[in-house]
Amino acid sequence: METGINRRPLSEVIADAIIVPAFEKEPPPLGVAADEAIKEFYDSGEFTGEKSSFGLLRHPEGLNARRLVLAGCGKREEFDEAVLRRVAGAAIRKHRSKAVRRVALHLEGKLQTAPMASAAVEGALLGDYDPDRYKTDEKKNDKHIETFSIAAPAAPADLDRGHEQGRILAEAQNHARDLGYEPGNVLTPMELARRAQALAQQEGLECDVLDRERMQQLGMGALLGVAQGSAEAPALIVIRYRPRGEALPDVHLGLVGKGVTFDTGGISIKPSQNMDEMKYDMSGGAAALGAIRAIARLKPPVPVTVLVPAVENMPGPKAQRPGDIVKTLSGKTVEVLNTDAEGRLILCDTLTYAQRLGCTHLIDAATLTGSIVVALGHVNTGVFTNDEKLQSRVLAAAKTEGEKMWPMPLDEEYKDELKSPFADLPNIGSRWGGAVTAAYFLKEFADPKPWVHLDIAGTAWLDKDKPEMAKGPTGVAVRTLARVALDWRKE
Ligand code: BES
Ligand code: MN
Ligand code: ZN
Repeated sequence: METGINRRPLSEVIADAIIVPAFEKEPPPLGVAADEAIKEFYDSGEFTGEKSSFGLLRHPEGLNARRLVLAGCGKREEFDEAVLRRVAGAAIRKHRSKAVRRVALHLEGKLQTAPMASAAVEGALLGDYDPDRYKTDEKKNDKHIETFSIAAPAAPADLDRGHEQGRILAEAQNHARDLGYEPGNVLTPMELARRAQALAQQEGLECDVLDRERMQQLGMGALLGVAQGSAEAPALIVIRYRPRGEALPDVHLGLVGKGVTFDTGGISIKPSQNMDEMKYDMSGGAAALGAIRAIARLKPPVPVTVLVPAVENMPGPKAQRPGDIVKTLSGKTVEVLNTDAEGRLILCDTLTYAQRLGCTHLIDAATLTGSIVVALGHVNTGVFTNDEKLQSRVLAAAKTEGEKMWPMPLDEEYKDELKSPFADLPNIGSRWGGAVTAAYFLKEFADPKPWVHLDIAGTAWLDKDKPEMAKGPTGVAVRTLARVALDWRKE
């Protein structure tokens, strides 16, 4: 999709459809003859401006477009970038067709800000995305939008910056979504590593892939224990971004993403129902890779290192057993009571390694627990931390990017759940508070560095279409992780 800003008067904008954000009780004055018809639309009650409602006017008078789509935005007082992002995405998903390939979205004067322009392009790019690479139906491309422009007559110059930033962030998010729906037979750990290398090369970043041997030399017993049941070799992907000019002092951000390319549960095998969804158990890794792509293009003055432990969790003659004791890179020993709690096992060694590489602040994203889905459903990502300050940076970034995240507790009392009779730690607690004990386990390896953990098990995947987004992988956390780096100011 080509995107851009069109500064000509609205009457001169050529498109198949013009989307106009419209508020309750406020027929938008476009200054063209169609204003009369818009007013009638409101007066008759056919269109009220209610959120997520649409009104379609064909052959609007005074416009160079065959369709005018009034896109309900609700009350003006409650309007923000998140509403615009959703409305733009939903309008596109609903109205794109063989006949609607060129779309313009009108931004009235008051809304002509860089963040609004950014949100509009993001909504459009995220909305037009479908996880359809494996569909051979040739008609699938008939409905995709070819050009999307923000119609902003006489807009200020900084709208271009907003548009550019939004495009980069949304394309990075779609990149993560591309990885998310790859099936386990295609996206093996080594294939994920190859894709990461290709991404790094394309963006001019350094990439290292640690193989099994190197991990053995280092002593990553927890990560290797998970990997040993699979015929697919594991990989620890490391990508480095370093600012060109002067970097901010005292910060080197480590972004860690869980990269389980398929999670059968291992010997503690999962039930077969919905097991296919476990191909998205690498969504945290995909989020970290998407984030570094955006960071490489937007160039914040903060060094960032991405680390993605990529493994497949399989049962088999070589698989680790419940009761096995492994030695982590940190030196701590772990009793593997449940082989399905594998995410924390690969992340603990990676968090230790990130510190060895000099990371001062750590953020991980992981589809870590079913328990977070019980707690927060599919709406909010769960946020855990050992450092309020870093957490507030992450929550602020999430707010800016319109990604819903909710802080969860991590009191010391939860540590009582993590007692093993034979090793330093077990890899599971009791049934209760599973998302918290999983996070607590990670904290034991992230300490003493400031660290935030995002449990995205409920938010990385949509079971059914939303008006603004196709079902499948969401690319959640890409924009938030990138935003943390972009908005980092001296402490
Ligand atoms: N990948 C799963 C978590 C998950 C569950 C993600 C549902 C998305 C949807 C993780 O590896 C896992 O299996 N966790 C177990 C931990 C348990 C054995 C302590 C869980 O949550 O059931
Ligand atoms: Mn598991
Ligand atoms: Zn898992």
